[in-house]
Amino acid sequence: MQIEVVTGAIQNQAAQAIVVNLFEGVTLPGGATGAVDAALGGQIRDIIADGDFRGKLNEVAVLYPCGKIPARRVILVGLGKREKFGLDAIRQASASAAKHARDVGVTHLHTIVHGAGVGGVAPEQATAAVVEGTLLGLYRFHELKTQLEELRPDLTTLTLVEWDAARRPALEAGARVGQVVAESTLLARDLVNRPANIVTPSSMAQTAHQMAAEVGLHCQVLDKAALTALGMNAFLIVNRGGGEPAQLVILEHNVGRDDLPTIVVVGKGITFDSGGISLKPGENMHHMKGDMGGAAAVFGALRAAALLDLPLHVVGLTPLTENMPDAHATKPGDVVRSLKGLTIEILNTDAEGRLILADALTYAQHFAPQAIFDIATLTGGRVVALGDQAAAVMGDEQLIARLQAAGEATFERVWPLPLFEEYGEQLKSTVADVANIGGRAASSITAGYFLSKFVPDGVPWAHIDIAGLDLVEKDKPYIPKGATGFGVRLLVEVLRSWK
Ligand code: BES
Ligand code: MN
Ligand code: ZN
Repeated sequence: MQIEVVTGAIQNQAAQAIVVNLFEGVTLPGGATGAVDAALGGQIRDIIADGDFRGKLNEVAVLYPCGKIPARRVILVGLGKREKFGLDAIRQASASAAKHARDVGVTHLHTIVHGAGVGGVAPEQATAAVVEGTLLGLYRFHELKTQLEELRPDLTTLTLVEWDAARRPALEAGARVGQVVAESTLLARDLVNRPANIVTPSSMAQTAHQMAAEVGLHCQVLDKAALTALGMNAFLIVNRGGGEPAQLVILEHNVGRDDLPTIVVVGKGITFDSGGISLKPGENMHHMKGDMGGAAAVFGALRAAALLDLPLHVVGLTPLTENMPDAHATKPGDVVRSLKGLTIEILNTDAEGRLILADALTYAQHFAPQAIFDIATLTGGRVVALGDQAAAVMGDEQLIARLQAAGEATFERVWPLPLFEEYGEQLKSTVADVANIGGRAASSITAGYFLSKFVPDGVPWAHIDIAGLDLVEKDKPYIPKGATGFGVRLLVEVLRSWK
């Protein structure tokens, strides 16, 4: 989609549709909405007085000006209660207005920047939120459908209309950030939505190469032979069952820039998790095509880091493999020696994510990082504990504080769980240094605790468990049912606000 900023009055735009807004409870609109209302001879005031429109968040009404102003339609969107207003209301309202516009056949939409006026939000952030909400809300995944008659055409252009010329640079900057962040999120959504017969470790490596070439990232892929030579056996043992060869994708932004702080982001890349010999039940097993959601988020975050030219050396590490059962597959009770040197007893082959992450975390040492994050669809326990409102985070307190702040800003919220050393008791193995499962109690924590053993000594690290947040069953205003791209916006915000 093309996004442009123009200076002028919204009521003077010759547009297919213009979008204006209203807070809940307002009876006499001001600002841009007031100007449109005046030009329409009080039509907006009237529908409020008649009770047709109350300004509830995501409420939409369409008015037809019939020549009173050059626009063919006026889309009025509710911003909800003023006390609850913020960046997320802007994202939601923008998505609701844009989807309604598309539903009535609009392909070029003109909008004011919600929140930048009376809303009191900084114009740059408000603009980024409008663009994010619009692009994320309009997302559809239909590349595998052949029956598309019902589909309205995509929006081709979004024009942001600002009255005050002095604000134009802020709008342009915000629009750029919003577009980069949203489109990077959509890359992650596509990867998660595509089924596991299309998205394989090799296809992910291919995607990484292509994307890296487009945006100027350094990309290196380590194959099975290279991983074997390195001794990444905990990763490789997950790859034993099933036909697709394992791949470790290494993406780098500002490669070789020793003057910049290095941040490593590791993403779990299980392109399909059947459970292996510890086979999962059949119900909802298809959701496990999204078990590479962490890796997809890392791809998206690296793409954004490059396009936004962030002053950091960012390294993305994504171990990629299927987890499948066959005659060669790992058996419960098998013991493997990890890259770190610790031996692991694999009591359950379905606790595979922590195995591939363990070696990737240890490998991060190569980059002498200032901080390491990992993001992974790791445990069903995460879903039980926090549902679909927050990812679980564990590890370094300062990194968790950064994640919490970024989570509030992006509304990809996180909540901490403790890694008390006593939880380590649950991971004791009779034959090896550590077991890969710790029982039903506190399963998200014991998974995090397991990972902590493989983090390079002295490097601050935080783990983000996004299990169940990769794919959702219910539409939200700017997150349609299916892949969410969760983690891209969170990670980019952490990186953007580094220092
Ligand atoms: N990929 C799953 C976790 C998952 C569950 C992701 C639900 C998305 C939605 C992970 O590999 C897994 O199987 N975890 C097991 C570990 C258990 C066997 C110790 C779990 O949490 O149930
Ligand atoms: Mn599993
Ligand atoms: Zn898994």
